[in-house]
Amino acid sequence: MSAIYFVPDPELLLYDRPLPYNLFINSSSVQAREHFIRILPRGEILTLEDFEAMKHKYQQIYLSEEERGEYLKGACQDQGKTENEKVTILKSTAISHLESLFDTKRDLSVDVVNQTLVGCRQTVEGFVYLVKDYDLAKLHELIGNLSFHDYYTYDHSINVSMYCILIHKLIYPNASEIESVNAGMGGFLHDIGKIRISNRILNKVGKLSDEEFAEIKRHPEMGKIFLSQQGVQAPKGTEIGIIRNIVYQHHENYDGTGYPDKVGGEKIHEMARIAAVADFFDAITTKRAYSEALTVEEALHVMRKTVGKKLDPKIFELFYRHMTTRYNEKVCMLDIAPDFDPCQPHIKLKREKHD
Ligand SMILES: [Fe+2]
Ligand SMILES: [Fe+2]
Repeated sequence: MSAIYFVPDPELLLYDRPLPYNLFINSSSVQAREHFIRILPRGEILTLEDFEAMKHKYQQIYLSEEERGEYLKGACQDQGKTENEKVTILKSTAISHLESLFDTKRDLSVDVVNQTLVGCRQTVEGFVYLVKDYDLAKLHELIGNLSFHDYYTYDHSINVSMYCILIHKLIYPNASEIESVNAGMGGFLHDIGKIRISNRILNKVGKLSDEEFAEIKRHPEMGKIFLSQQGVQAPKGTEIGIIRNIVYQHHENYDGTGYPDKVGGEKIHEMARIAAVADFFDAITTKRAYSEALTVEEALHVMRKTVGKKLDPKIFELFYRHMTTRYNEKVCMLDIAPDFDPCQPHIKLKREKHD
């Protein structure tokens, strides 16, 4: 597989300190015969004046896609950036990866899929770094401040990824970075099977017909097939088996009433049970086009009602205990259908009036 290069955002490059990545230029002006050569090796120091001189001389500076993670980490470690700026950087990069998978006009060759997975992994590494000192409540606040609203599927994938990292850490406080990345990758890609579901159904506002709902319900299986194609490889260090389990089982319910296989309890991979909590929480607390968001206090109540049915009691207990150090559960009368599907953006939660 030939290396892929991208143009970095000048504002996100690191200046006046040793670079954690290499800089390249394209020495060929013929598009089909691009030839990248290294102009500044890792460890050297770049000044703003150097960068401007290089741009002037060579027009464009590039980074190798393989070093995108270092580039993102570097941008996030930059002390001059606010938390919101850091998340915005990571979110926009994450969206570009998801868009490249969801862009149906693009030929999704195995090379493209693998390259995108490498990019996703690096973005998720950035999430792991970003949230390492966060608690769930702080992460929820951050997500609330930054939601893009019109990018539901992408936003949701990013949010679920970050929640998965933190919920996994509640269970395994000493989790290694790569274990956190696996949890985050699974969360990030949990709805990837939707690339095989028609946009007409995905974007339909209002009630879905039985056939349409049956079609949507195929997304876990589609995702598993997509990630099982011959030649698709997990990026270095990550475990495709864990990611596939999350993708395939995130709609299984603890009591065995979910889909696709109606398995329950510990037959559902632990990471998929974590993803189910993250998925549910994000779906009901994020404002969507046709549905208002619940407060954390209300969400805790709604989620607790599904413990043992939908959600794993032990995982929820940890989540609940952690959340209630900051929030008090609030009883709310909410009409939530037994088949409520957190991955369906337009399903409306109906509030009932308190007596
Ligand atoms: Fe889903
Ligand atoms: Fe989802």
